Amino acid sequence: MRVGTVKESAKNEARIAITPDSSKRIIKLGYNVSIEAGAGKAAGFDDAQYVETGATIYSTAEELWSNSDIVVKVNPPNSEETSELTAEKTIISFIYPQEKSELLELCADRKVSLIAMDMVPRISRAQKMDALSSMANIAGYRSVIEAGNNFGRFFTGQVTAAGKVPPAQVLVIGAGVAGLSAIGTSVSLGAVVKAFDVRPEVAEQIESMGAQFLFLDFEEDASGSGGYAKPSSPEFREKQLELFRKVAPETDIVITTALIPGVGAPKLWLTDMVQAMKPGSVIVDLAAEKGGNCELTRSDEKILTDNEVTIIGYTDFPSRMATQSSLLYATNIFHLLSDLTPDKDGKPFINMEDDVIRGATVAHNGEITYPPPPPKVQAIAVQPKVKTKELTPEEKRQKELAHFRQDTKRQVNILIAGGVVTALLGLVAPASFMQHFVVFVLSCFVGYQVIWNVSHSLHTPLMSVTNAISGIIIIGAILQIGTNNTTILTLSAISLLIATINIVGGFYVTRRMLAMFQRS
Ligand code: NAI
Repeated sequence: MRVGTVKESAKNEARIAITPDSSKRIIKLGYNVSIEAGAGKAAGFDDAQYVETGATIYSTAEELWSNSDIVVKVNPPNSEETSELTAEKTIISFIYPQEKSELLELCADRKVSLIAMDMVPRISRAQKMDALSSMANIAGYRSVIEAGNNFGRFFTGQVTAAGKVPPAQVLVIGAGVAGLSAIGTSVSLGAVVKAFDVRPEVAEQIESMGAQFLFLDFEEDASGSGGYAKPSSPEFREKQLELFRKVAPETDIVITTALIPGVGAPKLWLTDMVQAMKPGSVIVDLAAEKGGNCELTRSDEKILTDNEVTIIGYTDFPSRMATQSSLLYATNIFHLLSDLTPDKDGKPFINMEDDVIRGATVAHNGEITYPPPPPKVQAIAVQPKVKTKELTPEEKRQKELAHFRQDTKRQVNILIAGGVVTALLGLVAPASFMQHFVVFVLSCFVGYQVIWNVSHSLHTPLMSVTNAISGIIIIGAILQIGTNNTTILTLSAISLLIATINIVGGFYVTRRMLAMFQRS
């Protein structure tokens, strides 16, 4: 079958759904690939590069539509493109089915299968196809670059002969994919970054990226399902606005990304907060497309307020980095095609039993299949929060004491049992054996006592230290290995092997741990 892509017709859209690299990989799935002439030019890919991979170039969109069984795109098909739809075709693109009921009906009527990249469920297995996240990641990065371009100062603080420059103060509202990407980029540029999100579980991620989580002293968990938020109560919102009002005068750059699926973008940065900001400050409203988080945002525009605050409401950040976003989007599309073609025979199988394919398919076999049932597997970002009661110092002491008593009792029992076994053995075994045996039992006991209470996080350094013990074992084994006694020889060989594994493994694991703390 033939998979094709056309030049995107949406205004200012520079992305393409197939890159030369993904074309090669799609061909390996057994498909033929076709591209509309010049479709990749705005993203930096020439027709010649596609031809090299084995793809066919069609000079017009009409030709491509009529010759392709599967058309992959970035944006939903427009009215001109829907007139090209014929039965049994499959379309894969961003669809936004909640706003496109006419398109769904048309596809169902014409028996077209419509697969929405924006409906790929957020479960671990589907991360490689999660185009919303790929694009949000780019938007978050680009929002910081755009802010820097409109901000008249450095991000990082500097002390120079000409004077001291304070670091830029950045506030990121909403720490989903775009927000976390904006945090990472701002931190790496040297800004002081604060972030806020209604989902408490992201606090740790924000802090691990070097930003400060703005904590709101209010008992409400706004975590919804699927890693998304649910609308917060009016009281919570008031508290949140109060917090933002407090930080507005000292904030240089605000990046807003707050979104609740199906509800839209909550208004969180109000006119008085914009007015409280210093001249030269910048607001980038990533939620502009959904109405904006800032009251003054104008979609697709950059405006300058009376107090000289720049507000950017562009809705095409991924397209402004078309090469990067095409590379990521095309990889997401390839992975979806790969899941649709389990036998790599160039024939798609829309398996409605598969959670990911079912979730993304919004029209199939003459029926509208949107909305999908909830996936059987839980979304990645949802972590069940178990609230444990805080213990008072007295309760903590009692708990520790009880634990200590129980532990001591267990150890005394082990000692008594060990003593009895040793005494019984002593009745039959020779004295020389007993001497070594007692030393062996005591060393096991002491070793156990030393290691058992070490916290798990210290096990790796501990393993490195035990290399010394393994070294002693190896020397002992080497001394014994020259013997003619087969049992001693076998035991020495086993000891040598195990101690070597311990030493090599210890170094390997320690190296991997150290690499986790190194900047590449
Ligand atoms: P996401 O759903 O992963 O993140 C949204 C975050 O906002 C969540 O962490 C949620 O908890 C948080 N949130 C919701 N209500 C909040 C509130 N009242 N206060 C604070 N935080 C709140 O979404 P993602 O993928 O990160 O996208 C973020 C926004 O960026 C969306 O509006 C999306 O449409 C937009 N976007 C814009 C692009 C552009 O070119 N302008 C391109 C890609 C995405």
